Amino acid sequence: MRDKNGLSIKLNQSTLINTTDLHTFLRTRRSIRRFKADPVPDSVIEQILTTATYAPSAHHRQPWRFAVLTDLSTKTKLADAMAVEFQRDLEADSLSPEEIEKKVANSRNRITGAPVVIILCIDMIEMDTYPDAQRQKAEYIMATQSAANAGMQLLLAAHAEGLGSVWVCSPLFAPNVVQQALELSETWEPQAMYFLGYPADIPQPRERKPLEEIIKFF
Ligand SMILES: Cc1cc2nc3c(=O)[nH]c(=O)nc-3n(C[C@H](O)[C@H](O)[C@H](O)COP(=O)(O)O)c2cc1C
Repeated sequence: MRDKNGLSIKLNQSTLINTTDLHTFLRTRRSIRRFKADPVPDSVIEQILTTATYAPSAHHRQPWRFAVLTDLSTKTKLADAMAVEFQRDLEADSLSPEEIEKKVANSRNRITGAPVVIILCIDMIEMDTYPDAQRQKAEYIMATQSAANAGMQLLLAAHAEGLGSVWVCSPLFAPNVVQQALELSETWEPQAMYFLGYPADIPQPRERKPLEEIIKFF
C-alpha cells in the first residue's frame, strides 16, 4: 500500500522497520545549532513537513500550522523584530549592555544563519470551546501538545533526511512580534521555532537522567 506521497505504508509495522535500527535512529538525533550554508531543497522541506503532519493530534483536529522561511530577507525581518523584543526583556532583567549586545546578536545571527527557519503555530479555530476556564485550558493544552508532537516528528524527519535541526522556544516569548513580522493570520499562535540545515558539526550526545530517577514502576 502506498500513500499519496509515494511512501509505503504497511499496517504490520514490525515488517517495515527493524526495531534496533529505530531505537538507534531515535537516540542519535541531536540538537544541531551550526549548519553548512548549503540550501535545503524545497522537496526535502515538504517531505519533512508531510511527515510532521502524521503526528497524532487531539480529536484529529491537526491544530499545527507552519511558517517556512528560506529567503534571507524574511529571516532578517523576523530576526530584527525579535531582537527588539529580546533586548527589551534583557534590559528588564538588568543584564549589562555588553551581555545584552552579545545575546541579542547571537539570537539574531542564529535566525539569519540557519538555511531553513520554521515557525510552529497552533490554530485553535477547529478545537472545541467550553464555557468554563478549566476545560478551555485543557483544550488549549491539547492543541499545544498536538503541535509539539508535530514538532518532534519534524525533528525526526529532518534527522531521517540527514539534516540537523534544533527546537527553539523564543517565539513563545514574543508571539505577537512573530505574528506581525510574518503577517500571519491572527489565529496562528507561534509556539516554537526550528532551525534546519546540513550539520556543520554533530555534538556529543547529552546525558539522560537514569530511569530510576524518572520512573515510578508499579
Ligand atoms: C521545548 C523545547 C525548547 C527548547 N528551546 C531551545 C532554545 O531556545 N535554544 C536552544 O538552543 N535549544 C533549545 N532546545 C533544545 C534543547 O536544549 C535540547 O533538546 C536538549 O539540550 C537535549 O539535547 P539533544 O536535543 O541534542 O538531545 C529546546 C528543546 C525543547 C524540547
